[in-house]
Amino acid sequence: MTGRPGRDACVPARPAVAALVASAIPAVTGAFALLAPASARAATASVLRPESPGAAEIRSLAFTVLLISAGIFLVVEGLLLVSIIRFRKRPEAEAPQVRGDRRLEIVWTAIPAVIVVVLFLLTVDTMKDLDLPGKNVTVGVTGHQWWWEVRYPGADAVTANEIHVPVGRTVQVALESADVIHSFWAPQIGGKTDLIPGHVNRTSFLATTPGTYAGACAEFCGLQHAGMRFWLVVEEPGEFSAWLKHQAEPAAEPKTPAAAAGKELLLSLPCAGCHSVRGTAAQGTVGPDLTHLAGRLSLAAGTLPNTPQNLRRWLHDPQAVKPGNRMPTVPLTEEQLNQLTAYLEGLE
Ligand code: CUA
Repeated sequence: MTGRPGRDACVPARPAVAALVASAIPAVTGAFALLAPASARAATASVLRPESPGAAEIRSLAFTVLLISAGIFLVVEGLLLVSIIRFRKRPEAEAPQVRGDRRLEIVWTAIPAVIVVVLFLLTVDTMKDLDLPGKNVTVGVTGHQWWWEVRYPGADAVTANEIHVPVGRTVQVALESADVIHSFWAPQIGGKTDLIPGHVNRTSFLATTPGTYAGACAEFCGLQHAGMRFWLVVEEPGEFSAWLKHQAEPAAEPKTPAAAAGKELLLSLPCAGCHSVRGTAAQGTVGPDLTHLAGRLSLAAGTLPNTPQNLRRWLHDPQAVKPGNRMPTVPLTEEQLNQLTAYLEGLE
């Protein structure tokens, strides 16, 4: 999440068409970075602070388009001002009445057409670079209303709302949806890619700086669309391997009597019908896998930081925390709440 000097160095050279414009980009980028609020610079989801070559290319394209648009704006507004002043209404004379000028018509049809073709070619060129060949890691991500299921083919690891990847490695993401169309977006790492029911979409990226990056659903998908977030954790390859190995392990056994009672509760209440805790009889697939819940950064897809107090709050009344979400409220006594929290807090 920390800013590193020289991030712009990973912007690959652009073709000749854009070379001139691109030379002005760092200055404009700098100006925009200053406009971003301080908080966005510290913990950001900003497309202006890319941490992958792909995201840097997208930013570069965005500024190229912005500069072209600014040029158009200046020319059009300039001509407008000249016309207003030079050809303003004068009392003494009626303006010459002219109809149609073929040459003018052709010119002002051709210029926008050329601009659109240039923008199209620049976009295709960027898209080509975003499609990375090969892969070091494959991640399967399934969008649900309103959370993210994350699987690692080849490892038995299943998690939710948190995607870990190794730094400096090509990551291929296979995207699916369990219900409606969602869109996968980690602004600092890459562009948006839709998750479409009945179809596997793919995207790829290579993150260059370890850190924890914000991600979100970028396609309106219902009441809690805004509550469909995830964290993308980019870590050293060794840390990533250790994390993946741990995620593939079955759930920890309860260590206290309260936690043991919590486990019994989870298995006897409706919880087990929707959630899996690997290594137990809970094998539901409707909601997030809870096997290593306690090790995650957030609860309810980025709605709450993962603390025992928040977990208790969530279990007590999920609809109050995230209205409309698919987790029904299960009536629990204070003691049951404590036991269930104790068990889930032990699932590291
Ligand atoms: Cu999922 Cu918006």
